[in-house]
Amino acid sequence: MASSIIISDTQPWKDLKAHVEDIKKTHLRDLLTDDKRCQSMFLEFDDILLDYSRQQATLETIQKLLKLAEAASLKDKINRMYSGEHINSTENRSVLHVALRASRDAVIESDGKNVVPEVWKVLDNIQEFSERVRNGSWVGATGKALKDVVAIGIGGSFLGPLFVHTALQTDPEAIESARGRQLRFLANVDPIDVARNITGLNPETTLVVVVSKTFTTAETMLNARTLREWISSALGPSAVAKHMVAVSTNLKLVEQFGIDPNNAFAFWDWVGGRYSVCSAVGVLPLSLQYGFSVIEKFLSGASSIDQHFYSQPFESNIPVSAPFQIFYTFELYCTCGSLLVQACASGFVEHMECFISWISCQSECLFDLFPSEIFNRPSYLIVKLWRSWPPTFNRQVSMESNGKGVSIDGVPLPFEAGEIDFGEPGTNGQHSFYQLIHQGRVIPCDFIGVVKSQQPVFLKGEVVSNHDELMSNYFAQPDALAYGKTADQLQKENVSPHLIPHKTFSGNRPSLSLLLPSLNAYNIGQLLAIYEHRIAVEGFIWGINSFDQWGVELGKSLATQVRKQLNASRTKQEPVQGFNFSTTTMLNRYLQ
Ligand code: F6P
Repeated sequence: MASSIIISDTQPWKDLKAHVEDIKKTHLRDLLTDDKRCQSMFLEFDDILLDYSRQQATLETIQKLLKLAEAASLKDKINRMYSGEHINSTENRSVLHVALRASRDAVIESDGKNVVPEVWKVLDNIQEFSERVRNGSWVGATGKALKDVVAIGIGGSFLGPLFVHTALQTDPEAIESARGRQLRFLANVDPIDVARNITGLNPETTLVVVVSKTFTTAETMLNARTLREWISSALGPSAVAKHMVAVSTNLKLVEQFGIDPNNAFAFWDWVGGRYSVCSAVGVLPLSLQYGFSVIEKFLSGASSIDQHFYSQPFESNIPVSAPFQIFYTFELYCTCGSLLVQACASGFVEHMECFISWISCQSECLFDLFPSEIFNRPSYLIVKLWRSWPPTFNRQVSMESNGKGVSIDGVPLPFEAGEIDFGEPGTNGQHSFYQLIHQGRVIPCDFIGVVKSQQPVFLKGEVVSNHDELMSNYFAQPDALAYGKTADQLQKENVSPHLIPHKTFSGNRPSLSLLLPSLNAYNIGQLLAIYEHRIAVEGFIWGINSFDQWGVELGKSLATQVRKQLNASRTKQEPVQGFNFSTTTMLNRYLQ
């Protein structure tokens, strides 16, 4: 691959940086009076409406961002991704998650071979297998139908499927097709998670799906061994063949583990873990729960965005139009705080941590926040804040993809890439962290809403339905952030002078609003693909490799060292050695 430029060395980057000074002189209160500007910041595709008029941007800013995209060779990079070039250069792989949802007759090549027929072969197998399980022609070792599924996996082998499951759980069509069935996910290696997961399940009626791209991930393999033991101690070792199946790129290790290779569903190294929800990773467990026909709609929604992203000019391209955080990572917010958040609200989105975890989508309107933090890194804050969240898919897609310190050629970046994402569905965030986004740090937000609720509620005598109530907040928050409230306004309202500083809102806080027609399987697929591509666009512009994740390796190898020590100390009473004072002290206490 040709050596790439450092984007911050280009003139468009410098122009944008200089333009920050002009933007600092503007206020959204004024920008929003310009109807022509606002009109040009609306995009529509397939009944999805994107409004980015509340971004801190003028029409000139947009032109400058487009120039930046040109300088970054964005179109060329997108084309290279779709044409199967090895754009994941550090792992020498294509990046072809778009092939996972391409139509049967599409041609998408990796290393000179059309991968679409292989994709459909696996999809056809999943359809056949899931139908057999669902209609009871595939039964467990004691002849009982398998109505419960436990999917074991972590990271991309967990968060995407969880996001989609969370979103579908309240969709009327999906509810109907999932009747009598249960899907659970086991990710964390904490024994508490295992206990919670199998509580109330009967091994006789449970199918375990082990999902791991590599089939080496420590947590997944340990959990898989634990559930293998749970099954074989209840039903005998031969029951494993009927009660355990796998999804992996490493079919050899699947067989070594003891799962019949005929019951293994493949995917390929050109599918990144966090981009794998549309492979067997997500399609198998979700088809077992909801039926293949529902999941096919999810795939086709994602595919509709793939085509839009590939073919639309940037000016009218939804995933391309959204990455303002690149602009915000200039000095725009350095004076007002260390946290830059991009927020996004909508049902699925909860999982995209809200992308997901971004979807605790049971609510029809998901308010998700994708924070991108620029100058300091209060990541501890985010971790603590969101530990108890439902899945956090988007967080993984965004932060594992773009949390990089060097360019794709390995040159240290003279700026910080990546963003910190967090979010919350519905109005829950309003009663939790919105104080900070209104009067504390400036955190760009995405608000994601849907026109039609999955589960409308109309109470007799109530004028406003639950969904209207939810959406009232969806429409109000972006304006509250943008306009704020001035001391003048407060004075006119006769607010006591000593309270005026406390009740003043500076406003001028950016957001974008995405409005989907509903949150069915098709729209969920669209939402997924919008954020997948948007994150790729950011990475392409920053000039990084959004498709590797070397940063996760160091912690894993240090854990291996600790694990060895724990084993040696427990089995051979070996003293703790080779660690620093702090870790030695802590390990000794733990071993006591
Ligand atoms: O956390 C690192 C990671 O490699 C993710 O990228 C991946 O999704 C996850 O671990 C799980 O990996 P696997 O599917 O190989 O078990």
